[in-house]
Amino acid sequence: MRLNPITGSRALSSSPRTLLARWGLIAALLSSVVSTCHASDGAALHRKSCASCHNGMFPGGDGEMIYSAEFRKIKQLTQLRQRVETCASRVNAGWFDEEIDGVTQWLNQRFYRFQSGK
Ligand code: HEC
Repeated sequence: MRLNPITGSRALSSSPRTLLARWGLIAALLSSVVSTCHASDGAALHRKSCASCHNGMFPGGDGEMIYSAEFRKIKQLTQLRQRVETCASRVNAGWFDEEIDGVTQWLNQRFYRFQSGK
């Protein structure tokens, strides 16, 4: 072990303050991962259970067109969730509320942009 000639402490040891700052950073990173988790799950779930059928409905194979302002019929967040729920049960996706919420959130963030609660 090398000692710092001035302070007498170990050369590479971190002060408690640096350690605290590091943990703070890690905690911040973790919480940002957790809060975006739902929406990114939504993307994966949608890709797995929903996208291919919508893709088949458009000549270019771009099923996301169905959510565009031009084609969409859904007008409200509650309607969107209802629709996701209905579609999910129709295709026997086996989704729980969490998955339905995740996909609804992802669709809303990416396409619809309804204010929550409306
Ligand atoms: C078997 C084919 C098929 C599958 C699978 C499917 N959809 Fe659909 N979806 C449709 C059709 C057809 C429409 C448009 C016609 C209509 O409005 O009923 C539609 C429309 C929608 C709309 C409304 C778009 C709008 O604003 O007008 C949403 C939201 C939607 N689907 C979500 C989903 C989700 C989420 C899944 C996966 C769980 C899914 N769909 C799976 C065929 C499908």
